[in-house]
Amino acid sequence: MRKQFVDMNILVLGSGGREHTFAWKIAQSAHCKTLFVAPGNSGTDAIATNLDLAVTDFDAIKNAVLHNSIDLVVVGPEDPLVQGIHDFFLNDDEIKHVSVIGPQKAAAELEGSKEFAKEFMMRHNIPTAAYKSFTKNNVEEGYKFLETLNPPYVLKADGLAAGKGVLILNDIDEAKTELKNMLVDAKFGEASTKVVIEEFLDGIELSCFVLSDGKDYKILPTAKDYKRIGEGDTGLNTGGMGAVSPVPFATTDFLNKIENQIVKPTIEGFKKDNLPYVGFVFIGLIKVGNDPKVIEYNVRMGDPETEVVLPRLKTDIVEIFKAMSNQTLANIDIEIDERAATTVVLVSGGYPEAYQKGKEITGIEAVNNSLAFHAGAKLQDEKVVTSGGRVMAITSYGNTYQEAIKKSYQSIEHIHFDKMYYRKDIGFDL
Ligand code: AMP
Ligand code: GLY
Repeated sequence: MRKQFVDMNILVLGSGGREHTFAWKIAQSAHCKTLFVAPGNSGTDAIATNLDLAVTDFDAIKNAVLHNSIDLVVVGPEDPLVQGIHDFFLNDDEIKHVSVIGPQKAAAELEGSKEFAKEFMMRHNIPTAAYKSFTKNNVEEGYKFLETLNPPYVLKADGLAAGKGVLILNDIDEAKTELKNMLVDAKFGEASTKVVIEEFLDGIELSCFVLSDGKDYKILPTAKDYKRIGEGDTGLNTGGMGAVSPVPFATTDFLNKIENQIVKPTIEGFKKDNLPYVGFVFIGLIKVGNDPKVIEYNVRMGDPETEVVLPRLKTDIVEIFKAMSNQTLANIDIEIDERAATTVVLVSGGYPEAYQKGKEITGIEAVNNSLAFHAGAKLQDEKVVTSGGRVMAITSYGNTYQEAIKKSYQSIEHIHFDKMYYRKDIGFDL
């Protein structure tokens, strides 16, 4: 006889490819009764109930949680976490019983403030680039600090700047001008009231994803994303144009270094500093020589990394969420699919600059050898139309990443929308 599970009503917050992937994975769980996504997209609409509310409208979220008897909330993007959604639940008698996957505000500062993250790493001896931070009151000292560094110069707005707050400049005069633009002329608004200037790290990037229940951790597969719009990693930064998991150059020896030098001190750091952390830790790393160094912490999963990491997770994800909420993560076995997974992101022509929306997307139903995760796509008059820059992520499995990527490109042949663009070189550097 089939084992009886306690059914749960689950809400995923967000509307991208990451959230469609979460919804796809949760929908396969034996523990999921009804699944809601807010606000969701055309992909989540097909497998869950979309709720039309903003991820930072906490009062509306509370009403939806009460109205639909939701037991578990999975927070996709960083904004609600940095604004304290987990604390909002804990501080309200009517909803404090609801499990929230995502760290509390104090811990979300690891993504909300670059300076906070740097100080955390220094305190816990976690390898990262040397740095100093400045405000408009000591711009002159910032210029002097820049003069002590070799180019290229890395300037980071302290706060959240929708992924645009990092500038890498080759010329010292340009670096000084940009520092002034950020601090004095508020180039990134509030986010650049403070600027972190750091040493440039030369190496290849990868990301490590960790589950934390505040006490113990489990490491998920690594992934590498492709952030630039152009082939050969050229042009403007985007949210991410494709991803590969696992990362072929992440050998066992290198993974052990990541775990011992970075993951363990990070989780220990949460405890020592009283940072309540039930959620995903996304550690952006750079391999310098043979050693990992941290570029940044994010307090959520990556997008499009989620589209390659979750498809490789065999364990029931709701069981994992329950264990995270109950602080029993140590007792769970995380089973990973040996196959590689890759994803290629289809974007609206013009992205990451101005682009048009509302273009009909055809051919999705003909994709049968890959998973088609919707991102900036919505239903309109029973048609699926584009509604954002990143429109879909086409994920495939393979015995090697080369085989998987070939499948993604074959599947993409079926899909059309006006001015569709994608990179044809995902994995080129591996
Ligand atoms: P972040 O928003 O911190 O992820 O930075 C955006 C991108 O800038 C990263 O993905 C890296 O490619 C690059 N970057 C950030 N910090 C450094 C650094 N110290 N050295 C070299 N590249 C960096
Ligand atoms: N793909 C990078 C991010 O989600 O921040």
